[in-house]
Amino acid sequence: MIGVKKISHVIYETPDLVRQTEYYTDVLGLTRIEKGDGAVYLGSKVDPHSVVLKKGAQAQCTTIGFQLAHGEDLDAFAKQVAAHGIKVNTASDPEPGIAKAISFDDFKGTGITVFVQDKPSDHAFSGKGIQPHKLGHIAFHVADVKACTDWYCKVLGMRVSDWMADFFSFLRCDRDHHTINLVGTGQNAHFHTAFELRDWSHMQTAADLLSRNGYKIIWGPGRHGIGHNLFTYHRGPNGLINELFCEIDLIADESLGLFEPRPWHRDNPQMSKVWPKGPESANLWGPPPPDEMMKL
Ligand SMILES: [Fe+2]
Repeated sequence: MIGVKKISHVIYETPDLVRQTEYYTDVLGLTRIEKGDGAVYLGSKVDPHSVVLKKGAQAQCTTIGFQLAHGEDLDAFAKQVAAHGIKVNTASDPEPGIAKAISFDDFKGTGITVFVQDKPSDHAFSGKGIQPHKLGHIAFHVADVKACTDWYCKVLGMRVSDWMADFFSFLRCDRDHHTINLVGTGQNAHFHTAFELRDWSHMQTAADLLSRNGYKIIWGPGRHGIGHNLFTYHRGPNGLINELFCEIDLIADESLGLFEPRPWHRDNPQMSKVWPKGPESANLWGPPPPDEMMKL
């Protein structure tokens, strides 16, 4: 089957477009890309854009963007999606840098847009703010975690990296441990969006920059058990949570099925598994997620 190869971007609706744009440009340090259609496109290096902001009554994630492999047949992928009984739309020039895209809804009603990028974009790093290397993953609260996990595997060709007990799945579409994670909390909503930083020192300067701009860390710094990434979480001006992370587990070769060895792993080799529900699965360094993390 044809599967998605890379997460590219996330589209939000947000009430205060100006303030949210300032946060993404001045604090996160993404580069603004103009299209003149009323939406704000924010880029970082090779993707057409990483974040799109549109005016809306409430802050919510409406769409996730994925790329197929270079040269892949988008029409064949559309047919493959439609074969699951899913309604697929096609659009020409829907967003800057995307000549053609197909779109459909995922199991819980979040939009998915998929495209083939013939040539990688080249947005220079902005020279200000945190300047993450890339959009890493998006996590959602979901009402039916098993069915939603199955949907992402069957329709988008994603693979399960790990589960926490039977309520939290971590799915990958490339070598990163997770690109989509789904936590069963009985409702469908955005949980957090994560941006990859360079290393621990980048995490430190990012935390200082957030603090100077009035954004408090709500969990972390810590090291997740599942995925082993170093993390901090904060809420942006519209209340939605962003994670900054580095050192996420990498799977070098799908046929070997093991994550690249790291000194902080407790398993050797580190393989896909079902982790227990417990503090070490969430944070090897100790503090569990505070109630604030799970508030919508
Ligand atoms: Fe995360």
